[in-house]
Amino acid sequence: MAAVTVSIINLKGGVGKSTLAMILGEFLVFRYGKRVLLVDMDAQGNLSYCMVPAAHIETQAGQGRTIYHILKLALKGQ
Ligand SMILES: Nc1ncnc2c1ncn2[C@@H]1O[C@H](COP(=O)(O)OP(=O)(O)OP(=O)(O)O)[C@@H](O)[C@H]1O
Ligand SMILES: [Mg+2]
Repeated sequence: MAAVTVSIINLKGGVGKSTLAMILGEFLVFRYGKRVLLVDMDAQGNLSYCMVPAAHIETQAGQGRTIYHILKLALKGQ
């Protein structure tokens, strides 16, 4: 089955975008047994810090394994 993409977008800040993404993802996993990939494109990284231990994020960032690093490579055309 093809993946379904859900984007949560609102130009206004602090209206619950990250919270909704987290709860919707968890709901789909625990209520429906779906496999969910949450992609945090926000430079604040709030969703990531809610879902993953900070130490793990710091380790991944130190190894260049973040969306920031992927976009940086893409801009260089690599
Ligand atoms: N349904 C809700 N009821 C009450 N408070 C909520 C609800 N959803 C989110 N909040 C609270 O509102 C605040 C902002 O939520 P959140 O960080 O998800 O917003 P955001 O739109 O992602 O913000 P930003 O624009 O800074 O990324 C948080 O303190 C969160 O706990
Ligand atoms: Mg947010």
